[in-house]
Amino acid sequence: MILLGIESSCDESAAAVIDGQLVRASVVSTQLIHTRWGGVVPELASREHLRVVPAVVRQALAEAGLGVAELEGVAATRGPGLPGSLLVGFHFAKSLAYARRLPFLGVNHMEGHIYANFVGEEEPALPALVLVISGGHTQLVEMSGPRRFRIVGQTLDDAAGEAFDKVAKLLGLGWPGGPAISRVAEGGDPAFLDYPRALAGRAGLDFSFSGLKTAVLHSLRAQSGEWRQAHLADICASFEQAVCDQLARRTLRAARELGSRQLVLAGGVAANQRLRAQLEAACAGTGLALALPPLAWCTDNAVMIARAAHGRLLRGERSPLDLDATPRFDLEQASRGAEESDPA
Ligand code: KG4
Ligand code: ZN
Repeated sequence: MILLGIESSCDESAAAVIDGQLVRASVVSTQLIHTRWGGVVPELASREHLRVVPAVVRQALAEAGLGVAELEGVAATRGPGLPGSLLVGFHFAKSLAYARRLPFLGVNHMEGHIYANFVGEEEPALPALVLVISGGHTQLVEMSGPRRFRIVGQTLDDAAGEAFDKVAKLLGLGWPGGPAISRVAEGGDPAFLDYPRALAGRAGLDFSFSGLKTAVLHSLRAQSGEWRQAHLADICASFEQAVCDQLARRTLRAARELGSRQLVLAGGVAANQRLRAQLEAACAGTGLALALPPLAWCTDNAVMIARAAHGRLLRGERSPLDLDATPRFDLEQASRGAEESDPA
């Protein structure tokens, strides 16, 4: 089935064409307009999507060597995300589906991130425990079947990606913060500063990252500008290690408590090399298989949206064309059976 996927939930305008398990084209246009503000400005984001979404769709079709007439379905991110941004891609996709009489499906963005692991592959072996880590989400999700999700733990405050972004801003490293911090951290000593591992030793499967940001701030306050410059790599490595330790420890605890055999990593922070290596080491020899998404599909893209829609469209599932984009839309609301009742 030849599918067009569209993603516009935040600051990436993306379009992709897949043909069955084959990726024919993937175009991601990252909005650079936000860099000077150090974060995404929603109003600017939706205006950029209006300008760019038609162009990325045209480019994806051109790269795939296909015309609109050859498409057999359209999928777009329905939520969660910024309301104005979501509306642009979602309604563009619905209009195209209406005009060309194509099957249409709205896809949960986080489900898309999970399916980034299975691009070019069969549906995942389930059940699986999924660690979803992005700019807006940090959740442990039990996936018991296709579109059967139960959230078993989540952040009590900041998301993991948000922590990277805020600390990078604090350190003057620019935005987005995750890749910037990782680059600087490469030459640093992860044990140089002992930042707190929040909730360590506490029961439950939740996360917390806001204290870590404050700890970084305090560690800088006590020192001179020269010290800070001299130890920038060490500060970044120590911060990154504290995030990775918390993510890895809580996730492995969840796997033990739930008796999981399969762990799946998903979302933009899954691109973090230290975390990938740490989870690989932690899972080795434990009987817990680990799926890591290819780096190309970790951060927002439209291949993952098309991939998540593919099996469902083949099974005959359709979204009605009067379905609306849904800015607040968690994975439990996206579970099979719940999707047609619009979450508030
Ligand atoms: O999934 P994503 O592209 O967008 C959302 O759905 O939020 O994730 C973006 C987040 C940002 O917070 C960014 O700083 C973080 O993922 N990120 C990383 C890395 N690459 C992106 N965090 C840590 N290490 C990375 N290599
Ligand atoms: Zn995302």
